[in-house]
Amino acid sequence: MDTKYLIAEKIKEAVPDLELSAITNLLEVPKNSDMGDWAFPAFTLAKSWRKAPQMIASEIAEKIDSEDFEKVEAVGPYINFFLNKNKLSADLIAQVISQGSDYGRQDLGEGGSVTIDMSSPNIAKPFSIGHLRSTVIGDSLSMIFQKLGYQTIKINHLGDWGKQFGLLILAYKKWGQEEAVKAHPIKELLELYVRINAEVQNHPELDDQAREWFRKLEAGDEEALELWQWFREESLLEFSHLYDQLGVTFDSYNGEAFYNDKMAEIIDLLTANGLLQESQGAQVVNLEKYGMEHPALIKKSDGATLYITRDLATALYRKRQYQFAKSIYVVGNEQAAHFKQLKAILKEMGYDWSDDIVYVPFGLVTKGGKKLSTRKGNIILLEPTLAEAIKRAADQINAKNPDLANKDAVAHAVGVGAIKFYDLKSDRMNGYDFDLEAMVSFEGETGPYVQYAHARIQSILRKAAFSPDAAATYSLNDKESWDIIKLIQAFPDVINRAADRFEPSLIAKHAIHLAQSFNKYYAHTRIIAEDAERDSRLALCYATATVLKEALRLLGVEAPNEM
Ligand code: ARG
Repeated sequence: MDTKYLIAEKIKEAVPDLELSAITNLLEVPKNSDMGDWAFPAFTLAKSWRKAPQMIASEIAEKIDSEDFEKVEAVGPYINFFLNKNKLSADLIAQVISQGSDYGRQDLGEGGSVTIDMSSPNIAKPFSIGHLRSTVIGDSLSMIFQKLGYQTIKINHLGDWGKQFGLLILAYKKWGQEEAVKAHPIKELLELYVRINAEVQNHPELDDQAREWFRKLEAGDEEALELWQWFREESLLEFSHLYDQLGVTFDSYNGEAFYNDKMAEIIDLLTANGLLQESQGAQVVNLEKYGMEHPALIKKSDGATLYITRDLATALYRKRQYQFAKSIYVVGNEQAAHFKQLKAILKEMGYDWSDDIVYVPFGLVTKGGKKLSTRKGNIILLEPTLAEAIKRAADQINAKNPDLANKDAVAHAVGVGAIKFYDLKSDRMNGYDFDLEAMVSFEGETGPYVQYAHARIQSILRKAAFSPDAAATYSLNDKESWDIIKLIQAFPDVINRAADRFEPSLIAKHAIHLAQSFNKYYAHTRIIAEDAERDSRLALCYATATVLKEALRLLGVEAPNEM
């Protein structure tokens, strides 16, 4: 337990009238560690107690007596707490040793389920950096929620439906070549798509033909369906190669097309609730009362459904299928308006669970400080980028540890881990600049830096031939160890906050701090010196490695034992 909560509970025992949350809000870390590890100001109680804060402080200080403290002392209006570092470190290290990777596990979810809409690339289009962000953030959130006792369902809501497939079928029928599509599906299909879009500019009748193909597709026309299915399979094959590289799996690939036969019910429900209005032949839902100027377009005049119609069907299906406690959508910030509409319409339909729909947006990635743009050639192609990251990782490993046994596997873990970690370490709403060199560096706030700290500890433990004894007492009270102990202690709470805010960056930042504190410790302390505290220091190393590895796992990053 975070020492702050430990102290709050002791204060609560002494002063039962106070709220635990009020106490934790008041507790502060004194500027000078001579004043203790935590301080509680008594000012706020003065009014209700009708006493001077100094008196209150000494009264409370007297009532608190615990083996967890070296001393508790009233100084003016403050109560200063000096933790019993030996005891607390011993308790904590023993706990981490006995729980191992389960340290930090909590049962807040009580078996409830969380659906996570993530990755969700579009068929026949390139997998963008935005899709990478969604994949990596969604995967991490899944592990975080599992750690807290939720069952998670990772759903790849493929963009595999819509008018663009009418255009694509038309283009393929005009110019397409089977062999070329098989060899490079996404590249070929994208070229066809770009070409037909250009052509439509000069030949508007093509637009009608494309619409007609999509109409056929929605009606289940055999030829249209066959082509669509083939495009979908070829694209998925290419995506799945990427997912293998990233080590990410999904529980469902039900994309937009899956909801094709579930659209009529949505239209019926909207109609029954009196929500649909006609506007220039189309069906819309007015959302002015939610402060949205534009109505949501539900059904076009030609009868075609839209992205949001499919998302309404999706939300309803997920509620029925998974009875989610929360339904998360990890999608770029540019779709904020769409998700606002989605929630508002569900609310209007009378579904109180619309409040459990959580849109988790994220910011844009730039390259060289500039916005990515296919048109301007500022693009990041994922497959070659991953390959380059792995190569750079391999180069550094070759320089540092040329005799390493499983070099390829480690280079993969470091290269791919570097990209994931960099993506996850900053607040998700902040975008970042895609800088491969910075990502793969072993220095700075990077994945490899944290992985290296973990591997360094494993090497120390091997060298010392240390394995922890569950019955032993390992205790430490020096400043450097204590910095590490506080971070290990705070880890469960960090996981909670990461889940609360849908913010894996809190875990990444914590891992960086822990790795930094360990490296300071390593530089300052002779860990395997033969003295009375040797085993305690090694046990601290062991606990640190356990938490570093678990933090990385929650980010989807591997922690090799050697690198
Ligand atoms: N395919 C969409 C895109 O690439 C993302 C889909 C997100 N999920 C959803 N349920 N709308 O922009």
